[in-house]
Amino acid sequence: MATVVISNLEKSYAETKGPGVKVVHGINLEIRDREFMVLVGPSGCGKSTTLRMIAGLEEITGGTIAIDGVVVNNVLPKDRDIAMVFQNYALYPHMSVYENMAFGLKLRKFPKAEIDARVREASAMLGLDPYLDRKPKALSGGQRQRVAVGRAIVRKPKVFLFDEPLSNLDAKMRVSTRTEISKLHARLGATMIYVTHDQVEAMTMGDRICVMKDGRIMQVDAPLDLYNRPENMFVAGFIGSPPMNFFKGRLQRSATPGLLEFVETNSAGAPVRITLDAALSAKGAGHVDREVVFGIRPEDVQDTLGLERPDPAHTIEVKVEVSEPMGAETFLYLGTGATSFIARVRPTDRFEVGQAVKVTLKIGAAHLFDAATEQVLK
Ligand SMILES: Nc1ncnc2c1ncn2[C@@H]1O[C@H](COP(=O)(O)OP(=O)(O)OP(=O)(O)O)[C@@H](O)[C@H]1O
Ligand SMILES: [Mg+2]
Repeated sequence: MATVVISNLEKSYAETKGPGVKVVHGINLEIRDREFMVLVGPSGCGKSTTLRMIAGLEEITGGTIAIDGVVVNNVLPKDRDIAMVFQNYALYPHMSVYENMAFGLKLRKFPKAEIDARVREASAMLGLDPYLDRKPKALSGGQRQRVAVGRAIVRKPKVFLFDEPLSNLDAKMRVSTRTEISKLHARLGATMIYVTHDQVEAMTMGDRICVMKDGRIMQVDAPLDLYNRPENMFVAGFIGSPPMNFFKGRLQRSATPGLLEFVETNSAGAPVRITLDAALSAKGAGHVDREVVFGIRPEDVQDTLGLERPDPAHTIEVKVEVSEPMGAETFLYLGTGATSFIARVRPTDRFEVGQAVKVTLKIGAAHLFDAATEQVLK
């Protein structure tokens, strides 16, 4: 059993003069027993600071952190029953792989036989058996990171904390190590909190994802819920690659009774007009004649070549700015005159730069946001 409950957590870093700078602004987050929780967000949003407060490496300015119901604010790191894996591995260079993994248990005066059993179990789990006698400098980055993970596993902690453990690895190694950590989570059944700024890592590894920005939580949800139901423009733009397209404009009543129309703000010429469906019109009802942002993901923008009968209410004419063939699909960078946006289309659909094309928006997958608050309309 290990739950971690973060309540009104605040952090200010003390300055030499004047009041401290607040970098975590009263966050609330409950990590469930055996959950893999990912903290994700841009550089400087407070992910590491939050993780370090959970580990006890950073003093808590306000609020509480409770592990299994016990507030640990004043508990020393070594007594929190937590193991942390860092980006830079932090291995002891003069010790062998075996000694690196055994060291923490030795310090805690575990019996030799117990240490040996635990190191061998972790080593087998991580495929480190052939390297036990080597020094870290004779290992690849991925192998070193596995030793760092092994060192955490042998402790059998209540909670594992990871701070960007894969960011020093090359792309291929990242993917395989990512899978290994996910498997390890399933196998150990442990509570894990994992920090990354990579939204792909977050999406593929997390049971739930906590999206942070500027020391605040923007949304906590399961990966696909974040993707399909973002609460605000920040989450909508951060999760997904290429990101969600945004069009600025206003809502007005359409010619069809009961339906609203989105009219793009377009200084360059005729604005793009999109008739909303009933569901989106209902969400926008309180925002008629107000500034809104229309959001749609690249895969929900279709070029009309493959469509039998493109729906004219949701079809707009735009210009091709760039075409990027990716192999399995092509990213089309398009422009309305006011807005640049991206469509993911079939690789067989070829376009010239500057060509006018018609694209149809899957209106059922679109989102509306309040332009001022950036919150989704629902
Ligand atoms: N020791 C410190 N003293 C003063 N400010 C700090 C200190 N450590 C971090 N900060 C500031 O706190 C904020 C949050 O930093 P933090 O390291 O938690 O960000 P992060 O989300 O982990 O970013 P990254 O993705 O770059 O690792 C940043 O603005 C950073 O400059
Ligand atoms: Mg960090």
